[in-house]
Amino acid sequence: MRTRVGIVGAGPAGLVLSLLLAERGIDSVVVETRDRAEIERTMRAGVLEQGTVELLTGLGVGARVHAEGARHEGIELRFGGRGHRIDFTGLTGRAVWLYPQHEVLKDLIAALVGAGADLRFGARDVALREVASDEPVISFTDADGTPVELRCEVVAGCDGSSGVSRRAVPDGRRTDYFRAYPFGWFGILAEAPRSSPELVYAHSERGFALISTRTPDVQRMYFQCAPDERPEDWGDDRIWSELGARVAGEDGFTLNEGRIVDRGVIPMRSYVCEPMRHGRLLLAGDAAHVVPPTGAKGLNLAVADVVVLARVLERFFATGDADALEDYGPTAARRVWRAQHFSWWMTSMLHRDPVGSPFDLRRQLGELELVAGSTAAATHLAESYTGWPVEP
Ligand code: DHB
Repeated sequence: MRTRVGIVGAGPAGLVLSLLLAERGIDSVVVETRDRAEIERTMRAGVLEQGTVELLTGLGVGARVHAEGARHEGIELRFGGRGHRIDFTGLTGRAVWLYPQHEVLKDLIAALVGAGADLRFGARDVALREVASDEPVISFTDADGTPVELRCEVVAGCDGSSGVSRRAVPDGRRTDYFRAYPFGWFGILAEAPRSSPELVYAHSERGFALISTRTPDVQRMYFQCAPDERPEDWGDDRIWSELGARVAGEDGFTLNEGRIVDRGVIPMRSYVCEPMRHGRLLLAGDAAHVVPPTGAKGLNLAVADVVVLARVLERFFATGDADALEDYGPTAARRVWRAQHFSWWMTSMLHRDPVGSPFDLRRQLGELELVAGSTAAATHLAESYTGWPVEP
Protein backbone atom coordinates (compact mmCIF):
# COMPACT_ATOMS: atom_id res chain seq x y z
CA MET A 1 0.00 0.00 0.00
CA ARG A 2 1.19 3.53 -0.82
CA THR A 3 0.59 7.10 0.27
CA ARG A 4 2.42 10.37 -0.15
CA VAL A 5 2.68 11.22 3.55
CA GLY A 6 2.59 8.51 6.19
CA ILE A 7 1.67 10.11 9.51
CA VAL A 8 2.55 8.25 12.69
CA GLY A 9 0.29 9.34 15.54
CA ALA A 10 -3.26 10.75 15.74
CA GLY A 11 -2.61 13.50 18.27
CA PRO A 12 -2.95 17.21 17.55
CA ALA A 13 0.13 17.29 15.25
CA GLY A 14 -0.79 14.26 13.15
CA LEU A 15 -4.47 15.08 12.74
CA VAL A 16 -3.99 18.77 11.93
CA LEU A 17 -1.27 17.82 9.44
CA SER A 18 -3.58 15.35 7.72
CA LEU A 19 -6.25 18.07 7.34
CA LEU A 20 -3.74 20.67 6.12
CA LEU A 21 -2.43 18.21 3.53
CA ALA A 22 -5.93 17.25 2.39
CA GLU A 23 -6.63 20.94 1.84
CA ARG A 24 -3.60 21.01 -0.49
CA GLY A 25 -4.68 17.86 -2.33
CA ILE A 26 -1.89 15.76 -0.78
CA ASP A 27 -2.99 12.33 0.41
CA SER A 28 -1.91 10.86 3.73
CA VAL A 29 -2.58 7.89 5.99
CA VAL A 30 -2.58 8.27 9.78
CA VAL A 31 -1.37 5.27 11.81
CA GLU A 32 -2.18 5.27 15.53
CA THR A 33 -1.69 2.61 18.19
CA ARG A 34 -4.52 3.75 20.48
CA ASP A 35 -8.15 3.26 19.56
CA ARG A 36 -10.42 6.19 18.83
CA ALA A 37 -12.35 6.03 22.10
CA GLU A 38 -9.17 6.14 24.15
CA ILE A 39 -7.87 9.20 22.27
CA GLU A 40 -11.19 10.96 22.69
CA ARG A 41 -11.25 10.53 26.45
CA THR A 42 -7.60 11.07 27.45
CA MET A 43 -7.54 14.31 29.38
CA ARG A 44 -4.79 16.84 28.73
CA ALA A 45 -4.42 20.59 29.08
CA GLY A 46 -6.88 22.92 27.53
CA VAL A 47 -5.49 26.30 26.52
CA LEU A 48 -5.58 27.21 22.82
CA GLU A 49 -3.65 30.21 21.52
CA GLN A 50 -5.59 32.60 19.34
CA GLY A 51 -3.60 31.46 16.28
CA THR A 52 -4.53 27.83 17.00
CA VAL A 53 -8.22 28.75 17.17
CA GLU A 54 -7.92 30.73 13.93
CA LEU A 55 -6.27 27.78 12.23
CA LEU A 56 -8.94 25.32 13.43
CA THR A 57 -11.63 27.74 12.31
CA GLY A 58 -10.00 28.06 8.87
CA LEU A 59 -9.94 24.26 8.60
CA GLY A 60 -13.68 24.12 9.31
CA VAL A 61 -13.27 22.54 12.74
CA GLY A 62 -13.79 25.60 14.93
CA ALA A 63 -17.55 25.47 15.51
CA ARG A 64 -17.44 23.77 18.91
CA VAL A 65 -14.45 25.76 20.18
CA HIS A 66 -16.45 28.91 19.58
CA ALA A 67 -19.71 27.48 20.93
CA GLU A 68 -18.41 25.56 23.95
CA GLY A 69 -14.93 26.91 24.62
CA ALA A 70 -14.39 30.01 26.71
CA ARG A 71 -12.45 33.01 25.47
CA HIS A 72 -10.07 34.31 28.16
CA GLU A 73 -8.70 37.81 27.85
CA GLY A 74 -6.17 37.55 30.65
CA ILE A 75 -4.81 35.57 33.56
CA GLU A 76 -4.17 36.35 37.18
CA LEU A 77 -0.70 36.11 38.66
CA ARG A 78 -1.01 35.61 42.41
CA PHE A 79 1.88 36.35 44.69
CA GLY A 80 2.46 37.98 48.03
CA GLY A 81 -1.13 36.99 48.89
CA ARG A 82 -2.73 39.17 46.19
CA GLY A 83 -3.94 38.82 42.62
CA HIS A 84 -2.43 40.83 39.75
CA ARG A 85 -4.23 40.66 36.42
CA ILE A 86 -2.32 40.40 33.15
CA ASP A 87 -4.66 41.87 30.56
CA PHE A 88 -3.82 40.00 27.35
CA THR A 89 -6.38 41.72 25.19
CA GLY A 90 -5.61 45.19 26.52
CA LEU A 91 -1.88 44.63 25.99
CA THR A 92 -1.86 42.72 22.71
CA GLY A 93 -5.39 42.68 21.28
CA ARG A 94 -5.26 38.89 21.55
CA ALA A 95 -6.83 36.19 23.73
CA VAL A 96 -6.73 32.43 24.42
CA TRP A 97 -9.51 29.85 24.51
CA LEU A 98 -10.11 27.23 27.16
CA TYR A 99 -11.17 24.12 25.31
CA PRO A 100 -9.81 20.70 26.31
CA GLN A 101 -7.40 18.90 24.02
CA HIS A 102 -9.54 15.76 23.73
CA GLU A 103 -12.41 17.91 22.47
CA VAL A 104 -10.08 19.32 19.80
CA LEU A 105 -9.16 15.75 18.87
CA LYS A 106 -12.82 14.74 18.62
CA ASP A 107 -13.46 17.65 16.25
CA LEU A 108 -10.43 16.82 14.11
CA ILE A 109 -11.25 13.11 13.90
CA ALA A 110 -14.89 13.82 13.02
CA ALA A 111 -13.81 16.17 10.22
CA LEU A 112 -11.25 13.71 8.83
CA VAL A 113 -13.62 10.75 8.99
CA GLY A 114 -16.31 12.89 7.34
CA ALA A 115 -13.89 13.72 4.53
CA GLY A 116 -13.08 10.03 3.99
CA ALA A 117 -9.53 10.23 5.37
CA ASP A 118 -7.61 7.01 5.99
CA LEU A 119 -7.12 6.78 9.77
CA ARG A 120 -5.81 3.49 11.17
CA PHE A 121 -6.59 3.37 14.87
CA GLY A 122 -5.56 0.43 17.04
CA ALA A 123 -2.48 -0.39 14.95
CA ARG A 124 0.04 -2.76 16.54
CA ASP A 125 3.77 -3.31 16.07
CA VAL A 126 4.27 0.04 14.34
CA ALA A 127 7.83 0.30 13.00
CA LEU A 128 9.66 2.64 10.64
CA ARG A 129 12.12 1.42 8.02
CA GLU A 130 14.40 3.01 5.45
CA VAL A 131 13.58 6.53 6.60
CA ALA A 132 16.76 7.88 5.03
CA SER A 133 15.77 6.47 1.61
CA ASP A 134 13.38 7.93 -1.00
CA GLU A 135 10.73 5.41 0.01
CA PRO A 136 10.39 5.21 3.78
CA VAL A 137 8.08 2.48 5.06
CA ILE A 138 5.70 2.31 8.02
CA SER A 139 4.96 -1.30 8.85
CA PHE A 140 2.19 -2.23 11.27
CA THR A 141 -0.54 -4.72 12.02
CA ASP A 142 -3.96 -3.27 11.33
CA ALA A 143 -6.69 -3.42 13.99
CA ASP A 144 -8.22 -6.42 12.18
CA GLY A 145 -4.90 -8.29 12.29
CA THR A 146 -3.74 -7.66 8.70
CA PRO A 147 -0.02 -6.89 8.32
CA VAL A 148 0.48 -3.64 6.34
CA GLU A 149 3.54 -2.22 4.60
CA LEU A 150 2.79 1.43 3.98
CA ARG A 151 5.22 2.85 1.41
CA CYS A 152 5.48 6.62 1.67
CA GLU A 153 7.30 9.50 0.04
CA VAL A 154 7.66 11.20 3.41
CA VAL A 155 6.94 10.11 6.99
CA ALA A 156 5.74 12.63 9.58
CA GLY A 157 6.62 11.41 13.08
CA CYS A 158 3.83 12.78 15.29
CA ASP A 159 3.66 9.99 17.86
CA GLY A 160 4.75 11.84 20.97
CA SER A 161 7.66 11.54 23.34
CA SER A 162 7.55 7.76 23.70
CA GLY A 163 6.64 6.84 20.12
CA VAL A 164 8.79 5.02 17.57
CA SER A 165 9.54 8.07 15.39
CA ARG A 166 12.07 9.86 17.53
CA ARG A 167 13.95 6.60 18.10
CA ALA A 168 14.15 6.10 14.32
CA VAL A 169 16.64 8.98 14.19
CA PRO A 170 19.95 7.22 14.87
CA ASP A 171 21.71 8.18 18.11
CA GLY A 172 24.72 9.59 16.30
CA ARG A 173 22.50 11.81 14.14
CA ARG A 174 20.59 13.69 16.80
CA THR A 175 21.26 15.86 19.79
CA ASP A 176 18.90 15.52 22.75
CA TYR A 177 18.59 18.72 24.77
CA PHE A 178 17.02 17.77 28.06
CA ARG A 179 16.22 19.35 31.39
CA ALA A 180 14.40 17.73 34.30
CA TYR A 181 12.78 19.78 37.07
CA PRO A 182 12.93 18.79 40.72
CA PHE A 183 9.13 18.84 41.03
CA GLY A 184 5.94 17.68 39.33
CA TRP A 185 2.31 18.80 39.21
CA PHE A 186 -0.39 17.15 41.28
CA GLY A 187 -3.52 17.60 39.16
CA ILE A 188 -7.13 17.18 40.20
CA LEU A 189 -10.54 17.48 38.61
CA ALA A 190 -13.23 18.54 41.04
CA GLU A 191 -16.99 18.91 40.80
CA ALA A 192 -17.25 22.47 42.02
CA PRO A 193 -18.19 25.89 40.75
CA ARG A 194 -15.47 28.20 39.45
CA SER A 195 -13.36 30.03 42.01
CA SER A 196 -12.19 32.74 39.63
CA PRO A 197 -13.32 34.06 36.25
CA GLU A 198 -9.77 33.66 34.86
CA LEU A 199 -6.89 31.21 35.33
CA VAL A 200 -4.86 31.84 38.47
CA TYR A 201 -1.10 31.15 38.43
CA ALA A 202 -0.09 31.32 42.07
CA HIS A 203 3.37 31.70 43.59
CA SER A 204 3.63 30.93 47.30
CA GLU A 205 6.18 29.96 49.89
CA ARG A 206 4.66 26.46 49.79
CA GLY A 207 5.10 26.25 46.02
CA PHE A 208 3.14 26.85 42.82
CA ALA A 209 -0.59 26.30 42.28
CA LEU A 210 -2.75 26.72 39.16
CA ILE A 211 -6.50 27.20 39.27
CA SER A 212 -8.00 26.32 35.89
CA THR A 213 -11.41 25.24 34.73
CA ARG A 214 -13.15 22.80 32.42
CA THR A 215 -16.86 23.61 32.63
CA PRO A 216 -19.00 25.73 34.97
CA ASP A 217 -19.34 22.62 37.17
CA VAL A 218 -15.92 20.95 36.81
CA GLN A 219 -12.66 22.60 37.79
CA ARG A 220 -9.07 21.66 37.00
CA MET A 221 -6.42 22.52 39.58
CA TYR A 222 -2.77 21.71 40.03
CA PHE A 223 -0.19 22.18 42.73
CA GLN A 224 3.56 21.69 42.68
CA CYS A 225 4.61 18.42 44.33
CA ALA A 226 7.62 16.13 44.54
CA PRO A 227 8.33 14.42 41.20
CA ASP A 228 7.74 11.00 42.78
CA GLU A 229 4.65 12.01 44.79
CA ARG A 230 2.09 9.19 45.01
CA PRO A 231 -1.49 10.36 44.39
CA GLU A 232 -2.81 7.62 46.69
CA ASP A 233 -1.00 9.24 49.63
CA TRP A 234 -3.25 12.27 49.35
CA GLY A 235 -6.74 12.25 50.84
CA ASP A 236 -9.22 14.90 49.72
CA ASP A 237 -8.85 16.98 52.89
CA ARG A 238 -5.11 17.16 52.53
CA ILE A 239 -5.41 18.21 48.86
CA TRP A 240 -7.88 21.01 49.66
CA SER A 241 -5.86 22.27 52.56
CA GLU A 242 -2.66 22.36 50.46
CA LEU A 243 -4.34 24.09 47.51
CA GLY A 244 -6.08 26.52 49.84
CA ALA A 245 -2.84 27.43 51.62
CA ARG A 246 -1.13 28.21 48.33
CA VAL A 247 -3.75 30.69 47.16
CA ALA A 248 -4.58 32.21 50.55
CA GLY A 249 -3.96 35.89 51.05
CA GLU A 250 -4.97 39.19 52.52
CA ASP A 251 -7.61 39.70 49.79
CA GLY A 252 -9.52 36.70 51.21
CA PHE A 253 -9.41 34.60 48.00
CA THR A 254 -10.87 31.14 48.65
CA LEU A 255 -11.40 28.04 46.56
CA ASN A 256 -14.76 26.45 45.91
CA GLU A 257 -14.27 22.84 46.96
CA GLY A 258 -16.12 19.77 45.76
CA ARG A 259 -15.87 16.06 45.03
CA ILE A 260 -12.49 15.15 43.54
CA VAL A 261 -13.20 12.91 40.56
CA ASP A 262 -9.68 12.48 39.18
CA ARG A 263 -6.13 12.89 40.45
CA GLY A 264 -2.65 12.26 39.09
CA VAL A 265 0.95 13.45 39.03
CA ILE A 266 2.42 15.02 35.91
CA PRO A 267 6.20 15.09 35.36
CA MET A 268 7.92 18.33 34.39
CA ARG A 269 10.62 18.32 31.76
CA SER A 270 12.00 20.28 28.84
CA TYR A 271 13.28 18.43 25.79
CA VAL A 272 14.25 19.21 22.21
CA CYS A 273 15.54 16.79 19.57
CA GLU A 274 17.61 18.38 16.85
CA PRO A 275 17.66 18.13 13.93
CA MET A 276 13.90 17.61 13.61
CA ARG A 277 14.44 15.67 10.37
CA HIS A 278 16.36 12.57 9.38
CA GLY A 279 16.19 11.84 5.66
CA ARG A 280 12.49 11.58 4.77
CA LEU A 281 11.36 11.40 8.41
CA LEU A 282 10.21 14.73 9.86
CA LEU A 283 9.35 14.99 13.57
CA ALA A 284 6.56 17.23 14.87
CA GLY A 285 4.95 17.92 18.23
CA ASP A 286 6.00 15.98 21.31
CA ALA A 287 8.01 13.54 19.17
CA ALA A 288 10.44 16.43 18.66
CA HIS A 289 10.08 18.44 21.84
CA VAL A 290 8.42 18.55 25.25
CA VAL A 291 7.75 21.63 27.37
CA PRO A 292 6.82 21.79 31.04
CA PRO A 293 3.08 22.55 31.26
CA THR A 294 3.38 26.03 32.83
CA GLY A 295 2.08 28.34 30.11
CA ALA A 296 0.25 25.62 28.17
CA LYS A 297 2.39 25.62 25.06
CA GLY A 298 2.43 21.87 24.19
CA LEU A 299 -0.56 21.52 21.88
CA ASN A 300 -0.06 24.95 20.36
CA LEU A 301 3.54 24.19 19.52
CA ALA A 302 2.54 20.91 17.88
CA VAL A 303 0.06 22.78 15.68
CA ALA A 304 2.64 25.45 14.79
CA ASP A 305 5.10 22.71 13.75
CA VAL A 306 2.69 21.15 11.29
CA VAL A 307 1.71 24.51 9.78
CA VAL A 308 5.38 24.87 8.82
CA LEU A 309 5.57 21.21 7.80
CA ALA A 310 2.51 21.37 5.53
CA ARG A 311 4.02 24.34 3.69
CA VAL A 312 7.34 22.59 3.27
CA LEU A 313 5.61 19.44 1.98
CA GLU A 314 3.49 21.44 -0.44
CA ARG A 315 6.69 22.88 -1.91
CA PHE A 316 8.40 19.50 -1.91
CA PHE A 317 5.57 17.79 -3.81
CA ALA A 318 5.19 20.70 -6.23
CA THR A 319 8.88 20.80 -7.17
CA GLY A 320 10.15 17.33 -6.31
CA ASP A 321 13.12 19.11 -4.79
CA ALA A 322 14.25 17.24 -1.66
CA ASP A 323 16.12 20.35 -0.50
CA ALA A 324 12.73 21.83 0.39
CA LEU A 325 12.58 19.39 3.31
CA GLU A 326 15.69 20.95 4.82
CA ASP A 327 13.85 24.14 5.69
CA TYR A 328 11.42 22.46 8.04
CA GLY A 329 13.58 21.79 11.10
CA PRO A 330 15.38 25.13 11.36
CA THR A 331 12.17 27.11 10.78
CA ALA A 332 10.12 25.10 13.29
CA ALA A 333 12.97 25.06 15.82
CA ARG A 334 13.04 28.85 16.12
CA ARG A 335 9.53 28.83 17.57
CA VAL A 336 10.27 25.70 19.58
CA TRP A 337 13.17 27.39 21.38
CA ARG A 338 11.13 30.52 22.08
CA ALA A 339 8.43 28.33 23.58
CA GLN A 340 11.05 26.40 25.51
CA HIS A 341 12.30 29.64 26.96
CA PHE A 342 8.79 30.87 27.82
CA SER A 343 7.78 27.58 29.47
CA TRP A 344 11.04 27.40 31.42
CA TRP A 345 10.69 31.07 32.44
CA MET A 346 7.12 30.70 33.69
CA THR A 347 8.12 27.51 35.51
CA SER A 348 11.19 28.99 37.19
CA MET A 349 9.45 32.24 38.11
CA LEU A 350 6.51 30.52 39.78
CA HIS A 351 7.79 27.29 41.35
CA ARG A 352 9.59 26.86 44.60
CA ASP A 353 13.02 25.35 44.05
CA PRO A 354 13.29 22.62 46.72
CA VAL A 355 16.98 23.47 47.21
CA GLY A 356 16.49 27.21 46.68
CA SER A 357 17.45 29.82 49.25
CA PRO A 358 15.48 32.69 50.82
CA PHE A 359 17.32 34.87 48.30
CA ASP A 360 15.75 32.88 45.43
CA LEU A 361 12.27 33.33 46.89
CA ARG A 362 12.72 37.10 47.22
CA ARG A 363 14.21 37.31 43.73
CA GLN A 364 11.12 35.54 42.31
CA LEU A 365 8.89 38.05 44.06
CA GLY A 366 10.98 40.86 42.56
CA GLU A 367 10.49 39.36 39.13
CA LEU A 368 6.73 38.92 39.64
CA GLU A 369 6.45 42.54 40.80
CA LEU A 370 8.25 43.57 37.65
CA VAL A 371 5.97 41.52 35.37
CA ALA A 372 2.80 42.74 37.08
CA GLY A 373 3.96 46.33 37.32
CA SER A 374 5.70 47.01 34.01
CA THR A 375 3.69 47.31 30.81
CA ALA A 376 6.71 46.15 28.81
CA ALA A 377 7.21 43.04 30.96
CA ALA A 378 3.49 42.22 31.11
CA THR A 379 3.27 42.61 27.32
CA HIS A 380 6.09 40.11 26.92
CA LEU A 381 4.13 37.58 28.97
CA ALA A 382 0.88 38.35 27.14
CA GLU A 383 2.46 38.04 23.66
CA SER A 384 4.11 34.76 24.54
CA TYR A 385 1.03 33.28 26.21
CA THR A 386 -1.40 34.20 23.43
CA GLY A 387 1.12 32.99 20.84
CA TRP A 388 3.52 34.49 18.35
CA PRO A 389 2.63 34.65 14.66
CA VAL A 390 3.84 31.68 12.60
CA GLU A 391 6.89 32.64 10.54
CA PRO A 392 6.11 33.32 6.88
C1 DHB B 1 -4.13 24.09 32.10
C2 DHB B 1 -2.90 23.51 32.01
C3 DHB B 1 -1.78 24.30 31.91
O1 DHB B 1 -0.55 23.75 31.79
C4 DHB B 1 -1.88 25.68 31.95
O2 DHB B 1 -0.74 26.42 31.88
C5 DHB B 1 -3.11 26.25 32.05
C6 DHB B 1 -4.24 25.45 32.13
C7 DHB B 1 -5.34 23.24 32.19
O3 DHB B 1 -5.21 22.01 32.20
O4 DHB B 1 -6.45 23.78 32.25
